[in-house]
Amino acid sequence: MKRFEERVVIVTGAARGLGRDYARYFAQDGANVVVADVRDTQSAAAEASLEGPRCVGIDVDVTDRRSVEAMIEKVRAEFGRLDVLVNNAGLWRGLADAGLLDCPDDLWDAAWSVNVTGTLKCFQAAVPVMREKGFGRIVNVSSMASRSGGNVYGLTKNSVERMTEGMAREVGDHGITVNCIAPGISAFEAAQGQLGAAESIVAGNAIKRVGTSRDLYEAIAYLCGTGGDWITGQTVRIDGGAGIG
Ligand SMILES: NC(=O)c1ccc[n+]([C@@H]2O[C@H](COP(=O)([O-])OP(=O)(O)OC[C@H]3O[C@@H](n4cnc5c(N)ncnc54)[C@H](O)[C@@H]3O)[C@@H](O)[C@H]2O)c1
Repeated sequence: MKRFEERVVIVTGAARGLGRDYARYFAQDGANVVVADVRDTQSAAAEASLEGPRCVGIDVDVTDRRSVEAMIEKVRAEFGRLDVLVNNAGLWRGLADAGLLDCPDDLWDAAWSVNVTGTLKCFQAAVPVMREKGFGRIVNVSSMASRSGGNVYGLTKNSVERMTEGMAREVGDHGITVNCIAPGISAFEAAQGQLGAAESIVAGNAIKRVGTSRDLYEAIAYLCGTGGDWITGQTVRIDGGAGIG
């Protein structure tokens, strides 16, 4: 039996980048996967379907409560359950370089809206369905940048980590765990345009390479599998030892 057989998994922000790979890996591990994104969900869902189980694409804007609730209703209608939610949708492009003094309002608002509010809204909508079966695994996505208070991206990701602790506390009695991964700079293709920075960042790491989507997925899979049954409210740093001094 594959490790996520008969499980139903939502990966937000799965139309491209790391999320698209997570969706494919979950499908390879036997899960029914929902590719949730604001755009291009059908091609990513079709790609994941090639791996075997039932995969569907659902268009959703994670910042919009009605859109998120509609997604969860579709999942309930299609599969009758929800086991895993990976809150991967996030904005980072153009944010890491934006300082605080001159941060434009639209950038600030968009960053909080997708990275923090979007994570909260998906959590709020997913928990009632998970509670029905007394089981759920939620993984939020932070970043190595969460250690920095010097830009809006790091601040939003720091909030995701703190929020993970609060979420875990509120749903632990219902068989639901909530954890967080904080990736280092990962997946050259997704991080294109940041390649110069990537090389200098990984030079200071204990393990001097960028991460792969597989590195990150294996941690997610551990947290969502039986190994993670008694782990909740934690942030796992998957970054080749960045920032360990
Ligand atoms: N790539 C990296 O090196 C890296 C490092 C650390 C953390 N992360 C985090 O990992 C996650 C994925 O990163 P990525 O590099 O694959 O990003 P990406 O930009 O390639 O993909 C993000 C996806 O999120 C979707 N999205 C954006 N706003 C949305 C909304 N309102 N509703 C639904 N979907 C929305 C986008 O359409 C896109 O498909 C992000 O949360 C990012 O902050 C990435």
